[in-house]
Amino acid sequence: MSEKYHIVTYGCQMNVHESEKIAGILRRIGYEDTPKIEDADIIVFNTCCIRENAENHAFGNIGALKKLKKQKPNLIIAVGGCMTQEKGKTEILKKKFPFIDIMFGTLNLEELGDLIARKKAQKKKVIEIREKEGEIVEFTDAYRTSYPNAWVNIMYGCNNFCSYCIVPYVRGRERSRRPEHIVNEVKALVKEGYKEITLLGQNVNSYGSDGTTGTTFAQLLEEVASIEGDFRLRFMTSHPKDFNEDVVRVMEKHRKICRLVHLPVQSGSNAVLQAMNRRYTREKYLDEIKMLKTRLPEAEVTTDIIVGFPGETEEDYLQTEALVKEVDFASAFTFVYSKRQGTKAAEMENQIPEEIQKDRIMRLVELVNSLTRKKSETYVGKTVEILCEDYDGKKDLYLGRDEFGRMGYFKSDKNVIGQFVWLQITRANGISLFGELQQGEK
Ligand code: SAH
Ligand code: SF4
Ligand code: F3S
Repeated sequence: MSEKYHIVTYGCQMNVHESEKIAGILRRIGYEDTPKIEDADIIVFNTCCIRENAENHAFGNIGALKKLKKQKPNLIIAVGGCMTQEKGKTEILKKKFPFIDIMFGTLNLEELGDLIARKKAQKKKVIEIREKEGEIVEFTDAYRTSYPNAWVNIMYGCNNFCSYCIVPYVRGRERSRRPEHIVNEVKALVKEGYKEITLLGQNVNSYGSDGTTGTTFAQLLEEVASIEGDFRLRFMTSHPKDFNEDVVRVMEKHRKICRLVHLPVQSGSNAVLQAMNRRYTREKYLDEIKMLKTRLPEAEVTTDIIVGFPGETEEDYLQTEALVKEVDFASAFTFVYSKRQGTKAAEMENQIPEEIQKDRIMRLVELVNSLTRKKSETYVGKTVEILCEDYDGKKDLYLGRDEFGRMGYFKSDKNVIGQFVWLQITRANGISLFGELQQGEK
């Protein structure tokens, strides 16, 4: 019987996809997956350190394995991802959890197979964290578990150093994959039947700006959108300092590209944006939204917002509220600023007290929720196209998303996972839609 693996993932889509690569490596060396953590012979934690609570979450779950490890001394516990790549973190992890067997970083993910072999040959723990990014390693055997959706990296790392953000320190400098590798990967995925492809990068608009590929993001998007087949195309994350009309022109030309742009604004106040080192203003952001909606009136925008950044005044916060109302986002991810050791913002004076942060996040969440609810209600009575992604056995409902990321639930006699279907929306509940399956051709 072959040995079993279980992977625990934290953090962004990038990490979710990296866990698929980790699964690919584990399968290559003969492991099989198990959904039950206690049945696993190797448990891999793919960590995130974007905010303190992401780290605490991982700490809690790793700590909880102490007992299992005692019962199963041959169990291998491996910790990778952004947290291990943080300065000084491996020492802390070693002290807190002496039972961890392997630690690896985001910059040497591909070595995991060798590290496991090394660990099996020795008693000592194996710690291998690369300091600097190397050549891009092309993965051909990621084990994807998200059919009909597939994620495709177009680039790695980040050069932006937003003053609050740890990503550039734990992911290294920006590197873009060769366009032909990306195009070939997408072609293969479409051929395999994947129906939604999401191109991933921390700032997709700066694709190729390291000068190595000779291709801009707009050109790459055009090439990918020109691939034949019945699929949807998404990309994220766009950065307002670089988002431009070239990209929107390509969207206009290709109906395959979802009319949804994830454009994190972070704050509606110019003073805060400057302190965040975002390198755009509120006005530039609003101009981009206008440009997008002029060319593509049906387009929607989602965003990320941080409240309680050092120095944020009540007026600054209110400008964020005003901007949220003005743009009318399809949805927004809202965060309380979390101090990250080693970033510029961590050194700033006038950190905001927790009560004020909490008060602002509650008000903002309330506002965002009310806007999303209103948006959902406008769906009732309309017919929308949904890509069916899954079946919820408890509710006996199929579910999927429209091109704007709205979740739609419906009944169906036959399995339609992986198919585009039309739903007549009968009811909206918060952010979820409920509808009746329409028969016939689309
Ligand atoms: N590259 C993307 C975002 C990556 S991180 C971009 O530039 O938009 C995802 C989101 O986490 C960010 O958009 C930001 O809103 C949030 N975030 C990052 N660092 C944070 C911190 N220190 N505290 C709170 N939220 C943070
Ligand atoms: Fe972080 Fe800014 Fe890079 Fe996004 S662009 S990953 S927020 S430093
Ligand atoms: Fe993603 Fe978290 Fe790393 S958001 S890039 S997994 S720090």
